[in-house]
Amino acid sequence: MDFQTMMQTRRSCRAYLDKSVSREDLMKIVEAGRLTPSACNSQPWHFIVVDSPEGKEKMCDALLLENGRTGCPWRSQVPAFIALCEVEANVIPFVKEYYGTKQRFAPGDVGAACMNMCHQAMELGLDTCILGVTWQQKMREYFGIPEDAQVRMVIAVGYADPAAPVQNKVRKPLEEVCGFNRW
Ligand SMILES: Cc1cc2nc3c(=O)[nH]c(=O)nc-3n(C[C@H](O)[C@H](O)[C@H](O)COP(=O)(O)O)c2cc1C
Repeated sequence: MDFQTMMQTRRSCRAYLDKSVSREDLMKIVEAGRLTPSACNSQPWHFIVVDSPEGKEKMCDALLLENGRTGCPWRSQVPAFIALCEVEANVIPFVKEYYGTKQRFAPGDVGAACMNMCHQAMELGLDTCILGVTWQQKMREYFGIPEDAQVRMVIAVGYADPAAPVQNKVRKPLEEVCGFNRW
């Protein structure tokens, strides 16, 4: 599939078949994240692949907030998850001095890794949904995430249920979000 077609047709998937994802495919997806460019080549990420029944149960629990809200009501049917953690970014000293933080670019770097992973998944015939809302403390407890790292997002990975309705791709018009040589 060419890249334009991929961009036009990709959708977040919220209904999955009861079909597991091979470790080989999961590792190809992580590899796409690992190879992503980052500020000062700091690679401020760590990936946690969750595919065991116990791990998935914990992930489902950590995707439910303490107030009972969740961004993923359909989480119990997801075949595998990959948590993308942001870790300390070792950037060139002047970058930290200028911005007052080492992490200025880290969320963007992790986001870039996330999209490379979603597109790699698509090339493998897999579907994904990015999940942003997580109970951080539970993630730490369940998956041994150190205090200086945090889950930025989780990717749900699996095979889309073909019976589920396909949602329209809704985006702001091009002229609203892009200008040549000015806002
Ligand atoms: C950082 C981020 C967090 C997201 N969190 C959730 C989520 O918690 N639950 C969900 O169903 N979708 C989530 N999404 C998916 C968006 O809702 C979706 O990408 C957007 O509506 C556009 O739809 P499309 O991906 O089908 O083109 C998230 C997407 C991003 C990039």
